[in-house]
Amino acid sequence: MSTTTSPTDRAGRRSPAYLSGFARPSGTLEPRASLDSDAPVIGLDGIWRFHLAPTVAAAPEGFWSPDFDDAGWDELPVPSSWPMHGHGSPGYTNVVFPFPVDPPHVPTENATGDHRFTFAVPASWSGHRAVLRFDGVDSCGRVWLNGTELGVTQGSRLPAEFDVTDHLRAGGHNVLAVRVHQWSSGSYLEDQDMWWLPGIFRGVTLRQRPAGGIDDLFVRADYDHLTGSGTLSVTGASDAVLTVPELGIVDVPAEQTHHIAVVRPWTPETPALYAATVSTATETVSLRIGFRTVAITDGILTVNGRRIQLHGVNRHEFHPDLGRVVPPDVVRAELELMKAHHINAIRTSHYPPHPAVLDLCDELGLFVVDECDLETHGFHLIGWRGNPSDDPRWADAYLDRMRRMVERDKNHPSVIMWSLGNEAGTGANLAAMADWARGRDSSRPIHYEGDRDCAYVDVYSRMYADHAESESIGRGEDPDERRRALPFILCEYGHAMGNGPGGLAEYQRIFDTHPRCQGGFIWEWIDHGIRRRTPEGREYFAYGGDFGEPLHDGNFVIDGLVFPDRTPSPGLVELAAAYAPVRISAGSAGTIAITNRYTFRDLAHVRFDWQLAAEGEPIARGRLAIDPLEAGASVETPMPPLPQTLPDAETWLTVTAVSESGEPGLPAGAPLGAGQIRVRPAAPRRKPAGAAVRTAGNGLISLGPAVFDALRGELIQLGDIVLKGPTLDVWRAPVDNDRYGSDPLEKRWRALGLHRMTHRLVDLDTDGETLTVIIRTAPAGNDLALLSTWRWTASESAAHVSVECTPQGDWTVPLPRAGTRLILPGGLDSVRWFGGGPGEAYADSRSAVTIDAYSAAVDDLQTPYVFPQENGNRTDVRWAELRGRDGAGLRITADSSMEFAARRWSTEDLDAAVHTSDLTARDTVFVNIDYAQQGLGSATCGPGPLPAYVLDARPFTLAFTLAPLTAAPGVRDAGGIVPD
Ligand code: GAL
Repeated sequence: MSTTTSPTDRAGRRSPAYLSGFARPSGTLEPRASLDSDAPVIGLDGIWRFHLAPTVAAAPEGFWSPDFDDAGWDELPVPSSWPMHGHGSPGYTNVVFPFPVDPPHVPTENATGDHRFTFAVPASWSGHRAVLRFDGVDSCGRVWLNGTELGVTQGSRLPAEFDVTDHLRAGGHNVLAVRVHQWSSGSYLEDQDMWWLPGIFRGVTLRQRPAGGIDDLFVRADYDHLTGSGTLSVTGASDAVLTVPELGIVDVPAEQTHHIAVVRPWTPETPALYAATVSTATETVSLRIGFRTVAITDGILTVNGRRIQLHGVNRHEFHPDLGRVVPPDVVRAELELMKAHHINAIRTSHYPPHPAVLDLCDELGLFVVDECDLETHGFHLIGWRGNPSDDPRWADAYLDRMRRMVERDKNHPSVIMWSLGNEAGTGANLAAMADWARGRDSSRPIHYEGDRDCAYVDVYSRMYADHAESESIGRGEDPDERRRALPFILCEYGHAMGNGPGGLAEYQRIFDTHPRCQGGFIWEWIDHGIRRRTPEGREYFAYGGDFGEPLHDGNFVIDGLVFPDRTPSPGLVELAAAYAPVRISAGSAGTIAITNRYTFRDLAHVRFDWQLAAEGEPIARGRLAIDPLEAGASVETPMPPLPQTLPDAETWLTVTAVSESGEPGLPAGAPLGAGQIRVRPAAPRRKPAGAAVRTAGNGLISLGPAVFDALRGELIQLGDIVLKGPTLDVWRAPVDNDRYGSDPLEKRWRALGLHRMTHRLVDLDTDGETLTVIIRTAPAGNDLALLSTWRWTASESAAHVSVECTPQGDWTVPLPRAGTRLILPGGLDSVRWFGGGPGEAYADSRSAVTIDAYSAAVDDLQTPYVFPQENGNRTDVRWAELRGRDGAGLRITADSSMEFAARRWSTEDLDAAVHTSDLTARDTVFVNIDYAQQGLGSATCGPGPLPAYVLDARPFTLAFTLAPLTAAPGVRDAGGIVPD
């Protein structure tokens, strides 16, 4: 190992020169692989002493001296992001730099955290070389050991090592001092969309380096899909021997090419790893080798000779209590959660992850696009003026970052592509990174989305291209010849902010149709909400602006498929349906069609269960015998034998593919795909009729169990239930996808006044059996309106209404919703329904629901989006019952089907709330019985809903029956949402 540039200045109290040194680390060792060695290691994580100063000048002089008295300092865990421990506060910006763009200078106000740690080193370390390793310091750390300066780290999410051999006190106490600055010139290269969180946020270790040991290794393990053989080459260990017991390789010279006639290849579906060791007389390194070959052939990205589809997510490293520190058990659970939802790829947006993440990706089976710690997006806002990507003064820093990533991660089979970074414009420094990486590792393609001309990349990557453009690229219509010849990847799509994304199934169809459209990565995996409590103790998750940042990007940091505590959002459930490895649908001529959507694996591990249920009541169940289907193959199988006579009720056959044997994230019985076939439609519903309309004389009208307010034309009582409505309802608490984008719908809706509609009774009439009410619903200040005609009939026990609604005027904006709102007593807080479930669904996000009967408390129907917004909608609902503690309540039966929601706060409450803790239950239950809602799309950063899911203001009809229910015990026992 050799050292790079020499240590830095010692002066510069006001702003040391290294802070503006074009992001070059100093005193650090050559980058090398992250290796699991048996050489002694001392972990230096633990409770350190900590002092925070607002500026460099205010930081204590001489704190690096072993004699410095730190007794009065705070304690701080390392690793940590210090703002998460009460020192200063986090700040969030997406693109804009939160400091003047004045490269390479940083502001005088520069939080500076001094860290000290005293540790013992055994006498046995005497005479050995030793290195000190930092796996992540944000953004820059100046390091002293026992009073001697070692150098400066730069490149927050990259390792830095220092040779400490001459400064270590073996057999004694050692004092490590690290001065960490929030801002450094490196911050100009680290403008990723996330919280700014300084600190020593990854581990610190002291590693003995035995003489004649193994400093670095490069393991290449290729798989030949034509012969099934493997080729293994290990470089960097000339005197070492290699052992791979399972392959019969024992103590052979490591530095040669080994041909193995038959190996099990590594794939994300079958992540075969071979335990190996590389040893010298003084050191043994343990490896897990995966044989696989990445290639681009005829414009198609292949692994082991097969076209792959990236079913991916963008993963940031985030924890709601710890910031950038994610405990190992949380990481494992998180990656298993990805596997459980059929995700097969991670883009490490936008920096290399903790090295242990890649070990887990190897083990669990996840493709990785490893992205360098580089983003200069803030320069975009000033027309890319002064962008470091094309400025030679930054060239070293760019190359240094690329080298440190590639060298660290080069031995991981999971890593199939190197990414230069994100949103850093274009320039020679990026081209140089790509050139260097190609020279060092020709086995992996290069990715960088910012290179639109594809001058220095191997795949054509885009973010948020809409469906039409993606499809056109798939059809080869791109005018650019170079791009046309490359695989196409959406490095970001399906922006998962708030409720959504919609349109995933349609993207998936494009990936399934066009070979060069090879999938992509949802933006993004996790909501970066920071856990907080109100003064009353109610928990909520904070986002940009909640810490008083003068410049911030609000809730744009809340755009994940999982909530900050890593519970899945409905978006993740929807994604799992799009990515499911087994597809089941109605086949031709009354058969069931089954498709194996794996790339590398047959279906021997899959069991097919079926169930027949009439209105959710199971009638019969069994298993389908399916011969193991090869990867990519389809079959049509006959229906199972069904009972001769079926009840007179809507009856569905549900076929579920489940994992028979179980594997990480997918225990035995976990679903791998499902499909439904309706075998009997609902019997035609009889409309309640026969009761007579009676005028009560006190401004009330009665009809069967229904009582109306004659002045408003509204229902006010049904049987014993005092209620309000249904009234026409077009408003929804805007979802983020309504709120953002180039021409946000919310703005147009509010300009029209759709959030403050009023109702005028136009006419009320009866022919004796039908009460006809005409209502004009319109906003103040505008002449647009919706005219609705309500025709009520009733029997003695139920009332039926048919609502015909016609927009009047020139509507140029879609409606948020088209439906009705009903306000019920708060006691009716438990729901049973037959229709789509168990989770919420919307017009363009409904692939995950199955038609069944479900029960839930009203509270459990809500989805706690960090920024409150429309949620909890159930689609395809045939009927729903709301009951109170005594079992009495109300049944709503749609003539055909309805969308349904119930909540203990109003749409207006939801609209006004900015954190979940703003929502408090009222003593009423607000129910929506709707014809439809505007789709979700992903317009926060991408396309809005596809045309088919846009709710244009057009005439619609909605018809349903309301019937009071008497007691039915047992219904309230349900916890969570359960199928009946
Ligand atoms: C992309 C960017 C991501 C994120 C996203 C918006 O442009 O690469 O980091 O900012 O937009 O959420």
